[in-house]
Amino acid sequence: MKTVLVTGGCGFIGSNFLNLFVPKMTDTSFVNIDSLTYAGNPLNLKDIEASENYRFERVDIREQEDVDGVFKKYMPDTVVHFAAESHVDRSIYGPRDFLETNVTGTLNLLEACRSHWEPDGQNLFHHVSTDEVYGSLGDEGLFSETTAYDPSSPYSASKASSDHLVRAWHTTFGLPVTITNCSNNYGPYQFPEKLIPLMILNALEGKKLPVYGKGLNVRDWLYVTDHCAAVMKVIEKGKRGRTYNVGGRCEKRNIEIVEKICDLVAGKTGKAPEHYRGLISFVTDRPGHDYRYAMDASKIEKELGFRPQETFESGLEKTVDWYMDNTEWVESVRTGDYRKWIESHYGDGESG
Ligand code: NAD
Ligand code: DAU
Repeated sequence: MKTVLVTGGCGFIGSNFLNLFVPKMTDTSFVNIDSLTYAGNPLNLKDIEASENYRFERVDIREQEDVDGVFKKYMPDTVVHFAAESHVDRSIYGPRDFLETNVTGTLNLLEACRSHWEPDGQNLFHHVSTDEVYGSLGDEGLFSETTAYDPSSPYSASKASSDHLVRAWHTTFGLPVTITNCSNNYGPYQFPEKLIPLMILNALEGKKLPVYGKGLNVRDWLYVTDHCAAVMKVIEKGKRGRTYNVGGRCEKRNIEIVEKICDLVAGKTGKAPEHYRGLISFVTDRPGHDYRYAMDASKIEKELGFRPQETFESGLEKTVDWYMDNTEWVESVRTGDYRKWIESHYGDGESG
């Protein structure tokens, strides 16, 4: 039986990855380590938490000894590294956690792999990264795997730094690694500090919809399970040492998305679209706000046959439905009750 160590599996993308693959890959054992910061919610995994092939350990990747303890206990042959501080705005107001988790945490995992794995190339460290490492585009062009790194925010600088560490551990120590740099994800279980869930929940509660600047910034959107499928493809078939860009070929301006959400929510509540569009409020721009991201995903498409399954229209509607249907999850996040649940199960040692 293979053992896959997933880091950050209680977060948005990590939990979608586990919810997708734990039931499908019953001959693989999944160990999830997560320190349960504000972004880690055990409720995300309630459908799979009792599975035979799933284990959870509350571990902070900033602690080398604890990371080593997990390697000794489970002897994973593959690591899929999602854990990170992930929100750009938070990185502007408090960068230190980003450097500690995203850089030192990645270093600790790489060092654990180096000291616990045989140098026979049979293992894999897969690093999950972002298109933000490439900086900002103007109106034309796409990021390719050879685009020079030019990160703008403390978040993207910390992710760029972790990507460089992963490549250095491959080049210098021969560690088998792969990296994916993905565009903006959306879908179920995303913490409502990010654009799409924030706008859906604010609209439903009749709150203002804060759009930064003029709302003209462009992002390339991918439904979260398509990202998870891309990660699994790279783990299974990707060439060791390689980087793959992942994206949806789906560029949208922020304002387009917010208006679309207003219209979708209106369609479901029976109120007029203008009711929700009237909540849009243009607010002070994010400092250092990257203008446009757009991925050239042709390498993963050609080499590994990756194709997103979801269109933006189908994915956004599914997402709106999910936030409208999953009132228990939404309430637990809105009231902070999921933190109380964590305290009662694991004590109050929250990190992050
Ligand atoms: P998230 O913030 O929803 O989840 C991060 C998870 O990591 C949480 O469960 C949190 O508790 C855990 N974590 C944080 N610090 C930790 C620590 N010190 N030790 C152990 N666990 C810790 O993030 P996400 O959106 O799911 O992103 C996952 C990964 O994908 C990140 O590496 C991010 O950079 C990358 N990524 C995200 C997107 C996106 O659009 N969300 C796009 C491309 C790449
Ligand atoms: O591109 C991949 C990245 O996408 C990931 O690496 C990050 O982890 C993830 O958080 C996301 O970063 P963004 O900064 O692009 O996502 P966010 O949802 O914060 O913002 C999307 C766009 O919407 C961005 O241009 C800022 C804008 N925005 C965001 C919020 C939260 C608003 O206009 N208003 C808002 O309230």
